[in-house]
Amino acid sequence: MTPSETAPAQPRTSIPGAQLERVPVLIFDQAGRMARQVARRVANLIEEGRTVGKPVVLGLPTGSTPIDVYKELIRMHRDEGLDLSGVVTFNLDEYYPVNPKSLQSYHRFMRENFFDYVNIPEENIHIPRGDLLPEDVEAYCRAYEHAIAEAGGLDLLLLGIGRSGHIGFNEPGSGPETRTRLILLDEITRKDAASDFFGEENVPRQAITMGVGTILDAREIILMATGEHKAPILRRAVEEEPNRSVTATYLQLHRNATFYVDRAAAGELTREKTPWLVRQVTWDKALAKRAVIWLSGKLDKAILRLEAADFYRHHLHELLHAYPTVDHLTREVFEDLRQRIRYRESLPARQRVILFSPHPDDDVISMGGMLDKLASNENDVTVAYMTNGSVAVFDGDVRRHLRFVSFSRHALALENDIGEKLEARKNRIFAFLDEKKPGAVDTEEIQQIKAHIRYAEAIAGIEVLGLGDENARFLDMPFYKTGTVRKDPIGEDDVQVVLDLLKEINPTHIFVAGDLSDPHGTHRMCYVAIREALKRYNSTRQAGGDGAQPPERPLVWLYRGAWQEWEIHRADVFIPLSKADLDRKIEAIFKHESQKDRAMFPGAYDEREFWERARDRNAATAAKLNKLGLPEFYAAEAFVTGYAL
Ligand code: F6R
Repeated sequence: MTPSETAPAQPRTSIPGAQLERVPVLIFDQAGRMARQVARRVANLIEEGRTVGKPVVLGLPTGSTPIDVYKELIRMHRDEGLDLSGVVTFNLDEYYPVNPKSLQSYHRFMRENFFDYVNIPEENIHIPRGDLLPEDVEAYCRAYEHAIAEAGGLDLLLLGIGRSGHIGFNEPGSGPETRTRLILLDEITRKDAASDFFGEENVPRQAITMGVGTILDAREIILMATGEHKAPILRRAVEEEPNRSVTATYLQLHRNATFYVDRAAAGELTREKTPWLVRQVTWDKALAKRAVIWLSGKLDKAILRLEAADFYRHHLHELLHAYPTVDHLTREVFEDLRQRIRYRESLPARQRVILFSPHPDDDVISMGGMLDKLASNENDVTVAYMTNGSVAVFDGDVRRHLRFVSFSRHALALENDIGEKLEARKNRIFAFLDEKKPGAVDTEEIQQIKAHIRYAEAIAGIEVLGLGDENARFLDMPFYKTGTVRKDPIGEDDVQVVLDLLKEINPTHIFVAGDLSDPHGTHRMCYVAIREALKRYNSTRQAGGDGAQPPERPLVWLYRGAWQEWEIHRADVFIPLSKADLDRKIEAIFKHESQKDRAMFPGAYDEREFWERARDRNAATAAKLNKLGLPEFYAAEAFVTGYAL
């Protein structure tokens, strides 16, 4: 594309409320539908190319976002005969330096997630190489550009977006003039990649990437974004003028670039977050509540102190007109919130409860206060730890625990030949760990030991809250047991494990981590398994199951994982916590020693330990309620209830 072909950066959409958006954005309720639509577009292009006998040149990304698109294309190839023999591909980027065979290489990623399952000829596949000598990189990058041009240019380029705003690996500072080159990775990108590399220190500092200019030369561009962790950067990419701090803003200069996003990623766009500012809305109670809470926060004024003029000055006059007076509106919202505050006495008592905890620590980090109260209320509580959490345990912890067993040989009656076997096994494991390369997969036995370290910590955690061994179940779901950070998809076996537990306990209440932000993260996958199992469980219950009196369907409570809390307007229940409550919760979190001081996957730009995050988040919820004019609690947890999964 020549510069004269670029479009002016201005709103290019007729979607109501999207006038601040500088690039067309399509929002999908489900990430799965979005992926299918993108795959359909790719397939159509391939079919068109085939009809006219012209190869189709695709630009391809890696990462979590495009995986479902690749899956759908593989399905089309397998079930519908989609023929990809005329496709030529150029990948966007690759880490540098990296061995193409290593777990983290994009060569391996592309083969395992796409190329091994379709019929693109080997010679048509191009992926930047991360194993070049430094002195060869520059010429290689020029040759890569040349190869794209030789192939006729990119017909369609698929993109993800990093939380630094990068497209490809064009980090902040990259302008539209840049071409394929070696670049330094941004801190946030390296932190986001840390889990793939088993620690940030193992993430390469550099990468080879197509430039922004190379990207803009494509004839059509589709950028995809899913999950609420992408929402802040997506808003900047869509609503800010093109600028070097957010490279994705340059896509606004392209005539045929479209953003495909799920509702979570769209959450910070003005038309989604505060729709009343940009379009006429139909006011219902839920939207009125959201707007009043927003206004109260914006003006730093308690809800019952808001005046009519405050509404008029902030595009909320129509809302006001739906109520007889401003007091009717503010009182309705205030009372709604007040009634959602639940002390221990009004929480479930003497019921059968399952708390599904994706990892062995989400239970206490995310809802330790609630769990404490459920235990005090004499509920029959089962904490079901869904995955074993073994990938997040440092090797040093394995050595430490093995030394403990070795020291305690006599006390544990592990003497004579058993003691000798134990020593031999310990030495073998030590030798393996000494030789282990960063990012290498552990042996089966080490994975097991790591899982047991987490199990023992999980029980110690709930013991602080008055529960014990009999309350813990370790489901050890199969999808997690790859030994690496990348997981298998949820399968029938996973669903069955959850279904068996539901049938055994017949719970009246279940607690589920409602972290839907990362469509491929462990929390989301656990959620999917529970949703499927619950659907089957509820349908057998309705039919009366095996002739027994069907118990009621369990009430579903959603809590949020370690990273964020429900927004005030979305929460159905607030549980106030006193200082003593919060101290007990923190003590329970402390028992997860392998995750203390330095967690394996702390997340970008947040050095706080999990107990600090839990403390800050619970204190922040209490402070927000207080600012709205509700009582001043020390801390609070929030939940969404009655949710149909
Ligand atoms: C990967 C790439 C990156 C990713 C971006 C988002 O080839 O070019 O720009 O698209 O970092 O990654 P995910 O999809 O993992 O969130």
